[in-house]
Amino acid sequence: MISDALRVDTMTNTNVIEKMNVALGWELRAINMYAHYSANVKGIHRLQLSPMFNTEMTESIEHADIVRKGIVQLGGIPVTERNEHQIIHTTNYREMLNYSLETEAKAAEVYGDLLGIIERSDEQDLYDSIEQIYLAELRSIEELRLLVDD
Ligand SMILES: [Fe+2]
Ligand SMILES: [Fe+2]
Repeated sequence: MISDALRVDTMTNTNVIEKMNVALGWELRAINMYAHYSANVKGIHRLQLSPMFNTEMTESIEHADIVRKGIVQLGGIPVTERNEHQIIHTTNYREMLNYSLETEAKAAEVYGDLLGIIERSDEQDLYDSIEQIYLAELRSIEELRLLVDD
């Protein structure tokens, strides 16, 4: 017979894997979105924003990698499809920054929820690595808020 403690553990693990897959889907989307904006941004702001979007893309690849490996470690199967939220094509840098802010806010929300679930498990290492990602998303939000507010 499965003990209550073990049952709670298994439930928590399933919830953690599910939520990590949501986070992974958003990272896979962010990789595409930032690559698209880096290539498409026009005008004088391209000088600074194209490298910035590129940096965000690389960060999303790193986040996806950490989350993906974490899912496997927990015995789950990582998603291979991006979150289906539409990536809107534009060449206007202000729109790009606003869509970026929307994306980072969503990421922070998902990672915040995820931390709340991991807290209930005894996965301290996982908690620490997800917290680092969460803090990186918060920093991106702060930076983007300053950029859209000019
Ligand atoms: Fe991220
Ligand atoms: Fe991000």
